[in-house]
Amino acid sequence: MPSSVADSAPGPDPSGTEPRSVGATIELEGLTKRYPGGALPAVDNVTMDIREGETVILVGPSGCGKSTLLKMINRLIEPTAGRIRIGGEDVTDMDPVRLRRKIGYAIQASGLFPHMTVAQNIALVPKMLRWPAARVRARVEEMLDLVGLDPGEFHGRYPRQLSGGQQQRVGVARALAADPPVLLMDEPFGAVDPITRDHLQDELIRLQRELHKTIVFVTHDFDEAIKIGDRIAVLRERSHIAQFDTPEAILTNPADDFVSGFVGAGAALKRLNLTRVRDVGITDYPTVSVDDPLQEIFTKLRSGGINEVLVLDKRGRPYKWLRRGDMMRAKGSLARAGALVHDTVTQDATLRDALEAVLTDNTGRVPVTGRRGAYEGVVDVETLMNSVHELLEADRLEAMDAQHDLQEQRAAQTHAEQEGFGGEAKA
Ligand SMILES: Nc1ncnc2c1ncn2[C@@H]1O[C@H](COP(=O)(O)OP(=O)(O)OP(=O)(O)O)[C@@H](O)[C@H]1O
Ligand SMILES: [Mg+2]
Repeated sequence: MPSSVADSAPGPDPSGTEPRSVGATIELEGLTKRYPGGALPAVDNVTMDIREGETVILVGPSGCGKSTLLKMINRLIEPTAGRIRIGGEDVTDMDPVRLRRKIGYAIQASGLFPHMTVAQNIALVPKMLRWPAARVRARVEEMLDLVGLDPGEFHGRYPRQLSGGQQQRVGVARALAADPPVLLMDEPFGAVDPITRDHLQDELIRLQRELHKTIVFVTHDFDEAIKIGDRIAVLRERSHIAQFDTPEAILTNPADDFVSGFVGAGAALKRLNLTRVRDVGITDYPTVSVDDPLQEIFTKLRSGGINEVLVLDKRGRPYKWLRRGDMMRAKGSLARAGALVHDTVTQDATLRDALEAVLTDNTGRVPVTGRRGAYEGVVDVETLMNSVHELLEADRLEAMDAQHDLQEQRAAQTHAEQEGFGGEAKA
């Protein structure tokens, strides 16, 4: 059932068993914003339907009105004209403060309050909604866990004591704390390094598979849009919609030169961003724990007919690759032996991320991790290359089909002309 924005306030619930709110539709109708003194509107007459539980990405050049459009949805900016409906309900004239409690909002550089702890930041909206203290506390822990931060460790820290990526995670936890049906995100990962950004994107995808929120996400980065969007709206100046479609459709069939320009070069390879590690499947790999007695590890390496094992740390996270030869150097401790694991991916990582990870490591595989970085399996270079070949082969067949169609058309035209039916040419 679509949640009504006005009525879905998660009220006190001692049992804690209420159903989670899922997404809500968002309908924008003729939405327009004129800033005072602006010659032209910043956002001009945008009409757009967003489905329940869908992730829609707004991409477009700087200044085209993406942030303005997004902020009109939660009325941080008041529209000059047009209507906004959420979950079928017209919220254009609803009390904006009340509206914003029902819409999560996450922005670049996290927007956390520096004088509040992580827990206080996350508790903000639930407290405003007057949830009972025990429920707020439980929710904070749940949210930290959800975004992959150890509650015990991070609860009492201040934002300045966190890395950029951790701050972004807390920002997302805060936006989701009151379980809003709609989540608005304005370049939330714009300020972190590329590797952290990849991981945050993976986590958002994983979260979304659990939560089914309706997400509107602004980015400059078309690769990011392809990776996380169910649909992408490519916007030109004043937020005029150039194309609003699935990533596949935009990559294979850009509406015009403006969109092609945005897609950029290498559309075929960008499709590597559309396939996920979970789609190609992960495989098991022999593992041992740092806590295992060395003798046991030694026996495992010799007996199983294997050359290498993956050592997991105390929390079950990939730690080191250990080869037979390394055992000589272990000298009673694993600290000096083996090679540290460089990089890991999650099942939501794209093939492109996975390929990058595999290529920077010389083991020919990369560990795949789940919640809190725990080991789940590996994906290897052969599996990845097979997928790349399939993708390129599909492209080649498509191109051949197109070529074939073109030749047939030409032949038909030549035939018609020879028969004297080339009417238009003669007229
Ligand atoms: N408060 C404001 N007053 C006047 N003009 C504004 C205001 N905020 C934004 N604008 C103008 O409206 C237009 C759209 O701005 P907006 O911030 O929505 O763009 P954007 O697409 O988010 O850009 P970017 O990608 O750089 O973040 C710009 O021309 C900007 O200068
Ligand atoms: Mg912006």
